[in-house]
Amino acid sequence: TRYKKMNYQLTAEHLMIRQAARDFAVNELLPGVIARDEHQQFPAEQIKKLGELGFMGMMVDPRYGGAGLDTISYTLAMEEISKIDASVSVCMSVNNSLVCWGLENFGTEEQKQQYLIPLATGQVIGAFLLSEPEAGSDATSQRTTAEDKGDHYLLNGTKNWITNGNSAGVYLVIAQTHPEKGSKGINALIVDKHAPGITVGAKENKLGIRGSDTHSIMFQDVKVPKANRIGEDGFGFKFAMKTLAGGRIGIASQALGIASGAYELALQYAKQRKAFGKEISQHQAIQFKLADMATQIEAARLLVHKAAWEKDQHLDYTLSGSMAKVFASETAMAVTVEAVQIHGGYGYVKEYHVERLMRDAKITQIYEGTSEVQRIVISRAILA
Ligand code: CAA
Ligand code: FAD
Repeated sequence: TRYKKMNYQLTAEHLMIRQAARDFAVNELLPGVIARDEHQQFPAEQIKKLGELGFMGMMVDPRYGGAGLDTISYTLAMEEISKIDASVSVCMSVNNSLVCWGLENFGTEEQKQQYLIPLATGQVIGAFLLSEPEAGSDATSQRTTAEDKGDHYLLNGTKNWITNGNSAGVYLVIAQTHPEKGSKGINALIVDKHAPGITVGAKENKLGIRGSDTHSIMFQDVKVPKANRIGEDGFGFKFAMKTLAGGRIGIASQALGIASGAYELALQYAKQRKAFGKEISQHQAIQFKLADMATQIEAARLLVHKAAWEKDQHLDYTLSGSMAKVFASETAMAVTVEAVQIHGGYGYVKEYHVERLMRDAKITQIYEGTSEVQRIVISRAILA
């Protein structure tokens, strides 16, 4: 199936969704994006509006409050939002492709009624808690414990770097129940953020995506009903891996959007800025930069759409998702650096947006599996 031919075309519906996301980004996100970055302000109002438009549960079945769209639609929307504000799109990505997708595909009917509907309609934001201070890439080394107490689990430990950590109402927490079973002893639990025993750490002061809400979360004897476990006892690590495989398509789309946003600004600037009696776009050195940027972006977009298409066709998209993520995030880094260069000194100040996109690009090589982790996943698949 890996070699099944991709045959997809953007439909009228896809183009409409892309346009709606583009309009939203320009009208609702662009005003204030520089100040939100500078003041590390979480885009609460903007996320609320995104939810009202159906962008927080894009792929969820309308029975559970979602928009019932395909993964290609989701990548198109993620690209457009990320062109302008990656602090908004990371929140959107975690909610859509980790939290909602995980609950819809592996949750019970009761869990979906209680938790998925408010998440998919954007009334509540979700967070995905896998990483720990000493378990990032090495994700099976979970130290957070979910002790089996019969009718409930007792949760203890610390999660690190949690996106939406303070703004979320629902946490999906990965924790170890049977240490002797290694990765097969891990569980995924749905935890109410306001449960007694939870402490939210200070917001991280970051290089990029500064508006996004990144916190460590501490659990001390937090009681979680057994009914809040996702899947069978010991399914938690597989749950995390399966969910992250799709999440990586979301982050690849984010990286693609950061790259294409920076490229569009650089293209426009190069046609206006004059040096040595002509537009800088008339200098071949600048033309070749633009040519390379456009080519890298096109390749990244094709990989992202291929992974999304495979997911929609119910094919295995683990390999294509990792390829899309590593390529798009490296493209985002390379393209944003060149976009700053094309802007010269103006690129180095905030008003021109490209310095923010350059700072935002870096995280796409780190979260949801570093570039090195993607290469582990890719090499295992091609050597298998
Ligand atoms: N689907 C289903 N099962 C999978 C799987 C997949 N894609 N990948 C692994 N598994 C299963 C394996 O089959 C294995 O189970 P069995 O023993 O039954 O075969 C089990 O999981 C353990 O897998 P590995 O032995 O491959 O584990 P490993 O220790 O070698 O690690 C890894 C593999 C790919 C490096 C993995 O640990 C990993 O992905 N690490 C990165 C973690 C990560 O991406 N964190 C992101 C946090 S969320 C986030 O970052 C959100 C955000 O920023 C916005
Ligand atoms: P480490 O795993 O310690 O890695 C350090 C370096 O060593 C990296 O370059 C890595 O690639 C490399 N390395 C490690 N192992 C290997 C190996 N086997 N082979 C080759 N190289 C290797 N996590 C969540 O669970 N939920 C979230 O919502 C979330 N949001 C985040 C938001 C932000 C802003 C940040 C910064 C992180 C977020 N994370 C989240 C955590 C993120 O997923 C981890 O930071 C990431 O997986 C890397 O883990 P680490 O930081 O522990 O680095």
